[in-house]
Amino acid sequence: MAGSSANDAFVAFERVQKSYDGETLVVKDLNLTMPKGEFLTMLGPSGSGKTTCLMMLAGFETATHGEILLDGKPINNIPPHKRGIGMVFQNYALFPHMTVAENLSFPLEVRKIGKSEREEKVRRALDMVQMGKFDGRRPAQLSGGQQQRIALARALVFEPELVLMDEPLGALDKQLRETLQFEITRLAHNLGITTVYVTHDQTEALTMSDRVAVFDDGRIQQLAPPDVLYEQPQNSFVAQFIGENNTMDGVVQEIKGDTCIVKLDGGEVIDAKPVNVSKPGERTRVSIRPERVEFNKDRLKPGAHTLKAEVMEFIYMGDIFRTRLRVAGNDEFIVKTRNAPDQVRLRPGQQIDIGWLPQDCRALDA
Ligand SMILES: Nc1ncnc2c1ncn2[C@@H]1O[C@H](COP(=O)(O)OP(=O)(O)O)[C@@H](O)[C@H]1O
Ligand SMILES: [Mg+2]
Repeated sequence: MAGSSANDAFVAFERVQKSYDGETLVVKDLNLTMPKGEFLTMLGPSGSGKTTCLMMLAGFETATHGEILLDGKPINNIPPHKRGIGMVFQNYALFPHMTVAENLSFPLEVRKIGKSEREEKVRRALDMVQMGKFDGRRPAQLSGGQQQRIALARALVFEPELVLMDEPLGALDKQLRETLQFEITRLAHNLGITTVYVTHDQTEALTMSDRVAVFDDGRIQQLAPPDVLYEQPQNSFVAQFIGENNTMDGVVQEIKGDTCIVKLDGGEVIDAKPVNVSKPGERTRVSIRPERVEFNKDRLKPGAHTLKAEVMEFIYMGDIFRTRLRVAGNDEFIVKTRNAPDQVRLRPGQQIDIGWLPQDCRALDA
């Protein structure tokens, strides 16, 4: 996957823009390349342009500007049904008057595949999603999860090289969603299918994807593997959108190499890693993950920075303790600590020192 360029890309968006009304751009200068076999998720809040991107790739919308390439060829003039793309949406969209087997057979008939081969492919696709016994049912006789399995089988039955999924699990309950998340990634990887998956659920994006493109306001804010997105957010939007995050506002005083000094608005001075700041005097929002903060004195590493904090709440959660602190005027500062035998227990009102490593504290845009 590393080193992929537009040349060996299977899917490429090049400077793509989209406006529906000729005025506002809902997709702004989108550049994205995907190698074959990748599972990429477009993650972002509602209205950030994810579905629009998927619709342009599928051919149901045209780009206002720029080009989309599939396997190196521009697809602007290829109609949707000739792009060889499988699709799954949130609202199943199975044909209600057809049986499960007929629903699956339909994309094969459209492609003029003979009867015996059709039956063989339908059977295999149904087995793949563990729905072999349901071939004679109509969609109304299936649960939501079963319908979505059939929709998935229908998208895969003609063995497309590219599958697009737009919030396919959005209507299902949590447990079913988790089961199907696992099944979808397993199928995609086993079949070597290139997948573009759209969701607004960050957990879903992190657990399923090879890479995640975080969308906001029609732009990709960051495109990276899940661990990089979480550990190394490049701006405040990504830091805040992915996972839980503590922030403190202040002004950059000095930048030297890979550390900077930040004076917080409450007067405290801390070290941080300059990520999205460029010069002294600039306002910044520093960002630190709850599990990177330590208050057990003997576990603080050399070089760790300490600050005074007041305990607001100390909550036992089984596997972890969740501590809410007041730090530098922010009383929503969260620390997560593993439930270990030597873990100190805290009481509300207690004054403690907390610490972290400067490289875990990222100075981002204010
Ligand atoms: N068919 C359409 N006509 C006009 N505006 C649209 C249409 N589809 C989407 N939009 C607008 O484009 C923006 C992006 O929408 P969309 O791509 O659906 O975002 P997302 O899938 O991230 O929620 C929104 O402001 C939405 O209202
Ligand atoms: Mg959408």
